[in-house]
Amino acid sequence: MADDSAPAGKNAGASTLTVRDNRTGQEYDVPILDGAVLGADLGKIKTAEDQPGLSVYDPGFVNTASCRSAITFIDGDEGILEYRGYPIEQLAEKSNYLEVAYLLIHGDLPTKEQYDAWEHQITFHTFVHENVKGLMQGFRYDAHPMGMLLASVGALSTFYPESRNIADANVRQMQVVRLIAKMPTLGAWAFRHAQGKPYVYPDNDLGYAANFLSMLFKMSEQKFEADERLIKALEVLFILHADHEQNCSTNAVRSVGSSQVDPYSCVAAGIGALFGPLHGGANEAVLKMLRRIGSVDNIPDFINGVKDGQERLMGFGHRVYKNYDPRAKIIKKACDDVFEVTGVNPLLKIALELEKIALEDEYFVKRKLYPNVDFYSGLIYEALSFPPEMFTVLFAIPRTSGWLAQWLELVDDKEQKIARPKQIYTGDRGLDYVSSSERWA
Ligand code: CMC
Repeated sequence: MADDSAPAGKNAGASTLTVRDNRTGQEYDVPILDGAVLGADLGKIKTAEDQPGLSVYDPGFVNTASCRSAITFIDGDEGILEYRGYPIEQLAEKSNYLEVAYLLIHGDLPTKEQYDAWEHQITFHTFVHENVKGLMQGFRYDAHPMGMLLASVGALSTFYPESRNIADANVRQMQVVRLIAKMPTLGAWAFRHAQGKPYVYPDNDLGYAANFLSMLFKMSEQKFEADERLIKALEVLFILHADHEQNCSTNAVRSVGSSQVDPYSCVAAGIGALFGPLHGGANEAVLKMLRRIGSVDNIPDFINGVKDGQERLMGFGHRVYKNYDPRAKIIKKACDDVFEVTGVNPLLKIALELEKIALEDEYFVKRKLYPNVDFYSGLIYEALSFPPEMFTVLFAIPRTSGWLAQWLELVDDKEQKIARPKQIYTGDRGLDYVSSSERWA
């Protein structure tokens, strides 16, 4: 910002904002960089030197950038999503999850040697310490798998105390590999736990998604071999969920990471945020909603209830996308491939009709509410035999690579500070304490 005494116009130009503070009559030229003004610059606008500066009140960070990032690009109006510049449609069609994870973490697609080394490393680290198994076995029979995942990922920090040394790039990379490698193991074990079935160890002859399916569904057979079309569908779902710039859970990872804690604690925070029904828990909520609607005939009543504000149409709407979520388009197509193997999920008919009606209804059109990534993903997960409680786990596993890419970027970013938002205090001041014996007399 121009210094406080600088008259407006001194720095005036295409890249400044002129602000007049009507409390003082003072005008300020505030520099605009990358379409943003610095919060710290606004803080220099004061009514007097000893008074607090102007701040921005922005619950939910609706219009506040918290970082610079070169990982994921979204144009919500156009429905564009790119990882490191590559369109999501091309990655979903031509790549696989491990390659996409490499792209997010390292910034570039791997050479053959880099890919082979990466795949080998991830595969090598899929096993977890037996005590982690003991920890997971200690949960109640009906523990939600997200709670188990959160706790076990947090616990990993105690198995790798060196992970606290986040200043060392090699240490950081080691934890990145461990986390990406172990998430499917922990997720699958949380699933087996709920079913009362023995935990299945990783099969390192299998690829990332195929090994996950083996740990989920293998029983007494020597080798679990999933249908290739289902493996491909899971890879696509993993790619679509790998990153989504500064969403609630990524913000949680970055916020916790800004205290310079180890990455296991950061990812555990991300898992907690993802668990919520407005974030990763939405696909579970979509299925429950579809089941409750029950039949196409009940859709008009349900839509009226949504418009009256009684509830939300889950799987619709997005903070960023004011157009069709590009991931939802890809998932809708993947439904066909999966249903070819598993048979059609009867709830699909309700979902398709719901989408058709909502997209024509003025309430949704006016608010630019379109299907998001969660609208169809639950139908696929159900067809793959996952209970709804597992849906968010299936989101957390691939999102781990995005969280870690964001965490690595944060650690290297010299502009970052410990996250510490301001508040606007609305409570009492300066009250005199009255002892409990007097208050309760
Ligand atoms: N059904 C009905 N009305 C809605 C919905 C919905 N799903 N979403 C938003 N609205 C309305 C909302 O009531 C408000 O209307 P009005 O202006 O009359 O008050 C308007 O649209 C703006 O909504 P908002 O809550 O201010 O928007 P937001 O950006 O804060 O919320 C959202 C985004 C995703 C939380 C919200 O759209 C929502 O709750 N959707 C349902 C849950 C869901 O599907 N979540 C998954 C998000 S995608 C996965 C991810 O990336 O995490």
